[in-house]
Amino acid sequence: MASREISRRVQELRESLERHNFRYYVLDDPSISDSEFDKLLRELESLESQYPELYNEHSATQKVGGTATSTFDGVVHLQPMMSLANALSEAEFIDFDRRARAKLERDALEYVAETKLDGLAISLVYEAGRLARAATRGDGRTGEDVSSNVRTIEAIPLRLHQRKPPSIIEIRGEIFIGKEDFSALNKAQLAGGGKVFANPRNAAAGSLRQLDPKIPATRPLSIYCYTVGHVEAANLPETHFELLDYLRESGLPVSPESALCSDVAACIRYHADLAQRRVKLDYEIDGAVFKVNNFTDQKNLGHVAKAPRWAIAYKFPPEEATTIVKAIDVQVGRTGQLTPVARLEPVFVGGVTITNATLHNEDEVQRKDVRVGDTVVVRRAGDVIPEIVRVIESMRPIDSVQFLMPKEVPEQALQERTLSIIHFASRRAMDIDGLGNKVIEQLCRAEFIHDPSDLYALTTEQIQSLDRLAEKSAENIMAAIRASKETTLAKFLFALGIREVGETTAANLATAFGSIDAIRDASVEELLQTPDVGPVVAASIREYFDQATNNAMIERFRMYGVHWPAIKARSIVDSVFNGKTVVLTGTLSSMSRDVARMALVERGAKVSGSVSRKTDFVVAGEDPGSKVDKANVLGVEIIDEATFIERLGI
Ligand code: IVH
Repeated sequence: MASREISRRVQELRESLERHNFRYYVLDDPSISDSEFDKLLRELESLESQYPELYNEHSATQKVGGTATSTFDGVVHLQPMMSLANALSEAEFIDFDRRARAKLERDALEYVAETKLDGLAISLVYEAGRLARAATRGDGRTGEDVSSNVRTIEAIPLRLHQRKPPSIIEIRGEIFIGKEDFSALNKAQLAGGGKVFANPRNAAAGSLRQLDPKIPATRPLSIYCYTVGHVEAANLPETHFELLDYLRESGLPVSPESALCSDVAACIRYHADLAQRRVKLDYEIDGAVFKVNNFTDQKNLGHVAKAPRWAIAYKFPPEEATTIVKAIDVQVGRTGQLTPVARLEPVFVGGVTITNATLHNEDEVQRKDVRVGDTVVVRRAGDVIPEIVRVIESMRPIDSVQFLMPKEVPEQALQERTLSIIHFASRRAMDIDGLGNKVIEQLCRAEFIHDPSDLYALTTEQIQSLDRLAEKSAENIMAAIRASKETTLAKFLFALGIREVGETTAANLATAFGSIDAIRDASVEELLQTPDVGPVVAASIREYFDQATNNAMIERFRMYGVHWPAIKARSIVDSVFNGKTVVLTGTLSSMSRDVARMALVERGAKVSGSVSRKTDFVVAGEDPGSKVDKANVLGVEIIDEATFIERLGI
């Protein structure tokens, strides 16, 4: 038995779907995205199937959607206009095919693949070859008579191109507005002070619902026909694919994307390919439709309450979704420009979960009037960066305030930037001698540097223009910056300031991967193979290299001549120093103490400052001093520079 909570939820869902249906179909002014609507509908369907006692014939699940508005005459369709079941994943699509094959006892079924057009369904009745009536779908049984408007659509023939047309044939298709036509239309609307449409579908629906046919006559309405409903005295082909040709020959536009698929695998390939090409098509689609090709098979499969069992809409991941703006941050770009970024309640759209959307600039924020707390429609089409399409104003909190852009770089951003450059220049990182924190701070404030790579583009004049800096000091700083270009991969990696990547991790990564490119291209799984790298560190490294701005910065370092000796990627285990404690003493002639220390760390050694029983090796350079004596007393192995280099394998 359904609990009171369940009944309440069902009631709530029905009312909400009813409201959204009304806004969508009658007002042409939806307040939630299609996928959001689908989600609610699915939840209701699932509850109703779990609790059949809650059945109600007025439930949104029993309707195709829409009701006839009173402005047009009602038309009872000669045959109900059904809807399509949806598959939202490959698994659901495979399941659809499995059920159809099971019912027909067949190993494979041939399908016709089509685009799922995002327009509005239309029924065109031709009597003795003449267009007698055109009607919208309405609730599936009764639609609206929009004949006068449809007659103005150029693409729809008033007479079929057939010598002996059937006495009655009802052709069904989708009326839509192409993407280019849509933007031109909206531009014209804007210029003429008319209504700007939210999307091509609403523009098409709005155009078709005009009472004065002169208006739709000026709108760029297109149509693709995809099926036949009621027919009398017609000689139709036996397969759907041939029927499409029949429609073409009769003078009706049919989508050129239709294709035959010999089995379920071919359908999946079509779907994947179409998803790729989707952005390039000049009209909006939200998936592919697959229809069992053979009409006898279709008949044997039959239909359920509101949809046939022989067809399915295999949808693409939604490109639009609604979510809430949690905050609006201002990011400071490389050249100091301010970019407002909306932080969003995470939402799945365009196949990925998005948490941010750029608001580009102040004008954009003003135009869209996006505020913290707003419910917004976000969109991510193809590989395009996510954007906020519009605010749903009816859902705006009453106490919301307009967002104002700060006029200057916010102090906090400036400080973050300064800190990251201080870290970069520090001794254990790039070791830029003489470039003190104060100087870095002044360079940032003066907007001479925005990220660490800008250090290598500084001029002596710029440095000298800072407070109280003598020419000599400026030149010294320039020399130190130049000298720092010669570094090691480990130091450079550490200097980047990737979250969670300390000195040891940087050294381990350098050893394991050998190059910055290999690290940049490594998957989380590959990164996890590195000693010292756990899931948090790996995720942070990936996140860093997934950001185009970071990669661009790394390219700039290379361009300015930052370089390091190539390391052959090898696993730390290869080295005799792996796991050993080593003490460095005296001066080495071929490398600095720092480089020697890094070379050891890269090979898995622990470098210690004093000799004890736990010491494995003492590396003795020129003038070693007391550490060698102590090693001798304790019997610790002492190696000279030549042996050291040999054992390092460089
Ligand atoms: S066939 C019984 N084919 O999707 C099948 N419909 O959710 C009737 N649509 O009402 C529809 N592209 O408005 C079919 N290639 C296509 C379609 C398509 C878009 C729309 C149509 C229909 C709705 C069903």
